[in-house]
Order: sequence, then C-alpha cells, then structure tokens
Amino acid sequence: MQANANRARLFRRPLLAGIFILCAGLGMSGTECPPADNNNNSNTNGDTGLTGKYIGSERCSQCHSSVHATWSNTLHATALETLEAIGQDKNADCIGCHTVGFGEAGGFVDRATTNALAGVGCESCHGPGKDHVENVQDESLRPPKNIASSVCGACHTGSHHPNFDDWETSGHAMVTEHVADAFTAGTQPNSCGRCHSGDFFYLAILNTETVEDNFLEGVAREDMNGITCAVCHNPHAQTGNAATPEEGRDYQLRFPQIANPTPTNTISAATDSARFNLCGQCHHSRGRTWTDTSRGPHHSVQSNVYAGEMPMPETDVPTDPLVPSRISVHSLAPEQCSTCHLYRQDFMDERAPAISGHTFAVNTGGCATSGCHPNAGQATVALTTLQAEIEGDLAAIAMRLGDISTWGYSSEGGPDAMGQAALSDNIKKIRFLYNYVLSDGSLGVHNPDYIRSIMDECESLLDDEGL
Ligand code: HEC
Ligand code: HEC
Ligand code: HEC
Ligand code: HEC
Ligand code: HEC
Ligand code: HEC
Ligand code: HEC
Ligand code: HEC
Repeated sequence: MQANANRARLFRRPLLAGIFILCAGLGMSGTECPPADNNNNSNTNGDTGLTGKYIGSERCSQCHSSVHATWSNTLHATALETLEAIGQDKNADCIGCHTVGFGEAGGFVDRATTNALAGVGCESCHGPGKDHVENVQDESLRPPKNIASSVCGACHTGSHHPNFDDWETSGHAMVTEHVADAFTAGTQPNSCGRCHSGDFFYLAILNTETVEDNFLEGVAREDMNGITCAVCHNPHAQTGNAATPEEGRDYQLRFPQIANPTPTNTISAATDSARFNLCGQCHHSRGRTWTDTSRGPHHSVQSNVYAGEMPMPETDVPTDPLVPSRISVHSLAPEQCSTCHLYRQDFMDERAPAISGHTFAVNTGGCATSGCHPNAGQATVALTTLQAEIEGDLAAIAMRLGDISTWGYSSEGGPDAMGQAALSDNIKKIRFLYNYVLSDGSLGVHNPDYIRSIMDECESLLDDEGL
C-alpha cells in the first residue's frame, strides 16, 4: 500500500483540491480532470448512468494510484475491448464477466452511459466503492481485501475456463484437516501456516505482518482460506513471472515459474523458499535430516528432490551428502512443475470443455506439448514403467528392513526413545532415504536418476548392515 506524502495531503484537503493537486501533478491545469475515457476510438462514451453504488476504477486511482497503474496494464482492465474486437460487446450472455456490475443496479449498461465500468475493474473484486470514497476514514465502509477464491470464481468458471471449478477439487482448496484443527484451536499458524494457510501466507509472507498464533481461533475449516487464487496470482499486476505465456498474456504469477537452484545440502538452503520457484514456496523441505528420530521428512520435499539435494545435519556439513547431488532432467521442462501439473487445453465443445490445469493433477498431455516426449501415450508408458521400478525398489527395501516396530520413527510405531538411540547410523540413513522418496510422492518422476541413486544407496547400506 503506497502511503506517500501526496496521498496524505489528499486526505486533509477537500476532495476537489485533491483532484487539483493530482491533475497538476500530471501536468494538467484547471480544477477539473478530463473525463475518464477508456476507449479512445469513440467520442460517445459517457458516465451519466453512474447513479448507483458503483463509481468506476478511475475514481479509485485518485488515492490508490499505484494499484490503479499496474491494474490498468492487466488484461482485466481491457476485458471489454476483447469482446469488442469480436463484435460480442452487446451480447448480454458475455458482458457480465467482462465488465463491472452488469445486471445490477448502478452496474455497467453500455459505453455511452457507464463507460467507467467497462472491463474487469476494482469493484469487480472489491464490490461497489461509493460509500468508501465518500467517507474514506470510516473503516467499516472500506472494501474488503478478500483472498477467497470465490471472488475470482464468479467469472473464472464454466466449461470455457473452469479454473475455479478445478481448483475446488484440489487439495489446495481446503486447509489440510489436521492442520486446520490446530488453527481452530488457536495453535500452529506460525509453524504450519506459511504453506498450509492462505490467510497466513497473505498476512505474514506477502505483507510481512506479525501474526499471532490464535488469529484463526474458533474459525471453522470451511471459512479458512487454503491455497487460493490470490496466493499464486497477483490480482493487480502483470509480473513477468510466467515462463512461456501465450502472446499478449502474463498470467500474473506472484513468483517466478522457473528456478534452477544450485543443489546444496545444508538445512538453511533446503528450507529457503527464495531459492525455489512458485510451487517451491511451499513444496520444499522442512529441514528434517537422517538424524531425526521422531518423524521422517515432511510430505513437501518435491523442490529439493527436483534440485537433487537433501538437507544434512549441520554437523555433517560440508561432508558428503548421503547421495551425490544431481539436477533433474525434468528441471528442463519448459514450465517446470506446471508442465506436468498444470496442463491446459482450450475449450473445443461442451463434450470437450477446457482443461484449466488447476486440479494440479499430472496430465501427460503436458509431457507431449512441451516437446519432451513424442506423445502423451508414450509419456504415460515411460511414467508407469519408472514408477513400477521405484515401487519395486521401495518394497524390496521395506522387506529387508523387516517389521517397522524395529526400525520405524517413533511417531509411526517404531522403537521408543531408548530403542531409537540404539539404532545404527546406517538404519537411520536408510529409513530417511526411503521416506524421502515416499514423501516426494512422484515415485521417481521428479528426478529419475537421483531417486535411483537413493535406491542404490539404500541397498548398499542394507548390505553393510547384513540385512
Ligand atoms: C479519496 C481517497 C480514496 C479513494 C477515491 C478510494 N480509496 Fe480506498 N482507501 C482510502 C483510504 C484512506 C484507505 C485506508 C488506508 C489505507 O489502507 O491505506 C483505503 C483503503 C482501501 C482498501 C483496503 C481496505 C482495508 O481493509 O485495508 C481497499 C481494498 C480500497 N481502499 C479500495 C478502493 C477502491 C476499490 C476504490 C474505488 C472504488 C477506492 N478504494 C477509492 C482512500 C481512498
Ligand atoms: C468480473 C469477472 C472476473 C473476476 C471477478 C476475475 N476475473 Fe480474471 N479475468 C476475467 C476476464 C474476462 C479475463 C480475460 C480478459 C481478456 O483477455 O480480455 C480474465 C483474465 C485473468 C487472467 C489472465 C491474465 C493474463 O495476463 O493472462 C488471470 C491470471 C486472472 N484473470 C486471474 C484472476 C484472479 C486471481 C481473480 C480473483 C482475485 C480474478 N481473475 C477475478 C474476469 C474476471
Ligand atoms: C462466466 C463468466 C464469463 C462469461 C459469461 C463470458 N466470459 Fe469470456 N472470459 C471469462 C474469463 C474468466 C476469461 C479469461 C479466461 C482465461 O484467461 O482463462 C475470458 C476470456 C475471454 C476471451 C479471451 C480469450 C480466451 O478465451 O481466453 C474471449 C475472446 C472471451 N472471453 C469471449 C467471451 C464471449 C464471446 C462470451 C459470450 C459468449 C464470454 N466471453 C462470456 C469469463 C466469461
Ligand atoms: C481481480 C480482482 C481484483 C481487482 C480487479 C482489484 N483488486 Fe484490489 N485486491 C484484490 C485482492 C484479492 C486483494 C487482497 C490480496 C492482495 O493484496 O494482493 C486486494 C487488495 C487491495 C488493496 C489492499 C492492498 C494492500 O496491500 O493494502 C487495495 C488498496 C486494493 N486492492 C485496491 C484496488 C484498486 C484500487 C483496484 C482497481 C484499480 C483493485 N484493487 C482491483 C483483488 C482485486
Ligand atoms: C502456498 C503454499 C503452496 C503453493 C505455492 C503450492 N502448493 Fe501445492 N500444496 C500445498 C499444500 C499445503 C498441499 C497439501 C494439501 C492437502 O492435501 O491437504 C499441496 C498439495 C499439492 C498437490 C497434491 C495434490 C492435491 O490435490 O492435494 C500437488 C500435486 C501440488 N500441491 C502441486 C502444486 C504445484 C504444481 C504448485 C505450483 C503451481 C503448488 N502446488 C504450489 C501448498 C502449496
Ligand atoms: C514448507 C512448507 C510446509 C510447512 C511449514 C508445513 N507443511 Fe505440511 N505440507 C506441505 C505440503 C506442500 C504438503 C503437500 C505435499 C503433498 O501433497 O505431497 C504438506 C502435507 C501435509 C500433510 C499431509 C496432507 C495429506 O492430506 O496428505 C499434513 C498432515 C501436514 N502437511 C501437516 C503439517 C503440519 C502439522 C505442519 C506444521 C507443524 C506443517 N504441515 C507444516 C508443506 C508444509
Ligand atoms: C498453486 C498456484 C495456483 C493457484 C492456487 C491458482 N493458480 Fe492460476 N495459474 C497458476 C500457474 C502456475 C499458471 C500458469 C500455467 C501455465 O503456465 O500454463 C496459472 C494460470 C492461470 C490463468 C491463465 C491461464 C488460463 O487458464 O487461461 C488463469 C486465468 C488462472 N490461472 C486463474 C486462476 C484462478 C481463478 C484461480 C483460483 C480459482 C487460480 N488460478 C489458482 C498457478 C495457480
Ligand atoms: C516431469 C513431470 C513432472 C514435473 C516437472 C513435476 N512433477 Fe510433480 N509429479 C509428477 C508425477 C508423475 C507425480 C506422481 C503423480 C501420480 O502418480 O499420480 C508427481 C507427484 C507430485 C506430488 C505428490 C502428489 C500427491 O498426490 O501427493 C506433488 C506435491 C508434486 N508432484 C509437486 C511438484 C512440484 C512442486 C514440482 C516442481 C518442483 C513438480 N511436481 C514437478 C510429475 C511431475
């Protein structure tokens, strides 16, 4: 939020004087700004129809000028031009999602009477702004900053662009059950929230605010925000973070879609979000190493496996890692994680609706359109063959280790504290490596050769143990 001196001045003076300062700042003279005019091709635009609660994005720019400036470069701002270009701007079936408040009292009607409401404007997401603008000091009238996906889902839905519908079916849509229970009880946000809670991510990570552990106390799981649209997308700005956006598009991603960290094996690097891409902001190690006895690596080690690294106990650094680092062949995939997990396809007809990729489930279509594999069928064969190989290796290792009560972590029915202390280093290393592969969840796909080296290392450690 820009809190510059200019705006502070605005609030202390009558609004007209504020506008005067603003126009003067833009090199204009007089006491009135020229009328808002989004469409330079036409001189029949007007705003006589702005009689209700909607006032148009131009008005917001008086005080929120930097948000307005970046928003005006997004495709949202020109969504009505998109319809005009194909002669659909008078089609009532289309206008609703390409303008502000269409069909509502005081909402968009046409360029001639409500030009300020053309396109997807501030009030499309924030609701009508008149009351707020007339009394900016009244906090109760301020438009909500709502990161819920339902805000975007009002438009990004249906067979042409089912991003919301698909997202709703994904694990990102709800805070993980056990974690949500802790939040409701007033505990854990500062240890689990940065990856499991959109609410926490927004306040603590994006806005660097201090958040108390009880900030979601009493809130029901269905009222919490998981990994919502606004966690991954910047609602106000193009960012240049997409790897291969279609021409004229940007996707407004908050973090780069591609990152190629140099593999390292320190806890501090393995847990450092700044090294990783958008998905890796959360899908990275929580720092557990082979010496931990209560539990294995968290379910989130995908980015580390992709980079071919694993954290080592600080005392072992810089000694050799358990397995040599090895960057994944799949890190060359043109959109990295999104290549496989966000495969998209345009709408063809109602029987072949668009695929938005927002279930985040793997679709081997992406293995082919990326140019990496000849076609989806062959990619599926390669995938199932590799996964079968790694599953076989994992089963063989578990077999050689024997009953989990003799070697497992204490949280999963393994030996008690004394028994843990008695386990050999080799057994601890084997179970860590074994669980590292399980936690990654791809059964080898994220980094085939690295995972194979891990399997080999397990086998040779088992040999050393005489198992
Ligand atoms: C005359 C100045 C002015 C105008 C015009 C204005 N705002 Fe604000 N807005 C404020 C002030 C002051 C605040 C509170 C201080 C802050 O957050 O910086 C605020 C806060 C907000 C917030 C944050 C609310 C919160 O809970 O923190 C949003 C969202 C917002 N405005 C949206 C809009 C929208 C949308 C428009 C246009 C429809 C608009 N504003 C027009 C002055 C203005
Ligand atoms: C009022 C309807 C509406 C709402 C609400 C809405 N969008 Fe959109 N969005 C659109 C339309 C229409 C387009 C396409 C504009 C065009 O290409 O002309 C679009 C385009 C986009 C794009 C593509 C931008 C690009 O450069 O490729 C992204 C990303 C996006 N919206 C994200 C969001 C997010 C995130 C939210 C919620 C915070 C949201 N939208 C809310 C209607 C909406
Ligand atoms: C339910 C809301 C909604 C309705 C109704 C709607 N659109 Fe859209 N439209 C969108 C959204 C959201 C996008 C952005 C799609 C994306 O980027 O994934 C979009 C994008 C577009 C685009 C840009 C190209 C593309 O497909 O991404 C065109 C063209 C378009 N719409 C035309 C139309 C036409 C023509 C109609 C009426 C027949 C229509 N829209 C009705 C929400 C809607
Ligand atoms: C596509 C939906 C969407 C549009 C369009 C949109 N906003 Fe927002 N806005 C959000 C969301 C979601 C948040 C909360 C997340 C964030 O801050 O990024 C937000 C946050 C804000 C905030 C608080 C930011 C802060 O850091 O305090 C302000 C102020 C604001 N918007 C003003 C505007 C103005 C002015 C416009 C039009 C120029 C606008 N927004 C357009 C969705 C939108
Ligand atoms: C802000 C944190 C965060 C970001 C960013 C994030 N994820 Fe996730 N992801 C999670 C959490 C938390 C879960 C576990 C949800 C559950 O199962 O309860 C998850 C689950 C998943 C799953 C498991 C399948 C499912 O539906 O549960 C996949 C696949 C996935 N994410 C892929 C991705 C991809 C690809 C990206 C980047 C485009 C990404 N994630 C970005 C936090 C995040
Ligand atoms: C560094 C980010 C991060 C932190 C911090 C984090 N998690 Fe996770 N967690 C994830 C991701 C990402 C997944 C999803 C991985 C997948 O689906 O394969 C996940 C998955 C889970 C799952 C399994 C979900 C399922 O349904 O399969 C549980 C349970 C869980 N986390 C609990 C916690 C708890 C409790 C905390 C805090 C003590 C925590 N996590 C902290 C990133 C994190
Ligand atoms: C976990 C991160 C993540 C979440 C959550 C997420 N997106 Fe996306 N989104 C992406 C990525 C990554 C891309 C770029 C995909 C690509 O490169 O093909 C994308 C692309 C898009 C696009 C442009 C491509 C298209 O589909 O036309 C739109 C629009 C969009 N997202 C809307 C949404 C909406 C709406 C939501 C919430 C319902 C949402 N996203 C939630 C990561 C996310
Ligand atoms: C080459 C394709 C590919 C790339 C690139 C890729 N993945 Fe995967 N991922 C897979 C496959 C295949 C699976 C196993 C899915 C299955 O068997 O259903 C998987 C599994 C996962 C899972 C576990 C899903 C679950 O249900 O628990 C998560 C989380 C995940 N990937 C996240 C990521 C992240 C984050 C990245 C980027 C660092 C990434 N993936 C890169 C193909 C890929």
